[in-house]
Amino acid sequence: MLVAPSLLAADFGNLEREMEWFNQSHADYLHLDVMDGVFVPNISFGFPVLKHVARICKKPLDVHLMIVEPQKFIPQVAALGAYYMNVHYEALTHHHRVLQQIREAGLHPAITLCPSTPVSLLSDIITEVDMVLLMSVNPGFGGQKFITHTLQKVVELRRLIHETGSTALIEIDGGVNMETGQQLAEAGADVLVAGSFVFGAPNPRQAVENLKSLS
Ligand code: DX5
Ligand code: ZN
Repeated sequence: MLVAPSLLAADFGNLEREMEWFNQSHADYLHLDVMDGVFVPNISFGFPVLKHVARICKKPLDVHLMIVEPQKFIPQVAALGAYYMNVHYEALTHHHRVLQQIREAGLHPAITLCPSTPVSLLSDIITEVDMVLLMSVNPGFGGQKFITHTLQKVVELRRLIHETGSTALIEIDGGVNMETGQQLAEAGADVLVAGSFVFGAPNPRQAVENLKSLS
């Protein structure tokens, strides 16, 4: 299993220290949650903080934009040297155009679905993305309870990927722990985002190892 710890649950007063253990861990990506207080009812951090983190993080960045008009920020995300740029399906009108613009900027395009957005809406863009992020909580806050309906969406998405020959990975975000992680692994998830489960653990590096061992 690929694992992307979410910085949202980190100790922001000690970012350097958090990045130290993180860089030494076997985490695959660093998941960065940007919120604007409009698309979601919360505000997290923006580009000044992301720039600092990008400088000290030695792993690929998975930038999850919970903002309106995410297409405006493609150049800034590219300037960070990010790997994935995750944009919400619900925040866009011209999905195909924006996904292409993200790729042209040298980033890996990823599309995110809220819990109430059906997987079937992806049928015409699934071959344009390198990853689909299924939200397993309503976006905006860490530490929420996993919505079990996500498991059915993973199965449905796996089928769509198979039928279309898409190479997209399936990523899940929200309420991930060992129990929900195991269920997600069995349903067909490729990447688990985990905030509180990792950063709140007595031994975060071990928590990453534990999630990585799921299959
Ligand atoms: C929520 C964010 C998540 C959040 C997950 O809107 O997208 O990435 O950090 O936190 P946990 O793992 O605590 O549910
Ligand atoms: Zn996220």
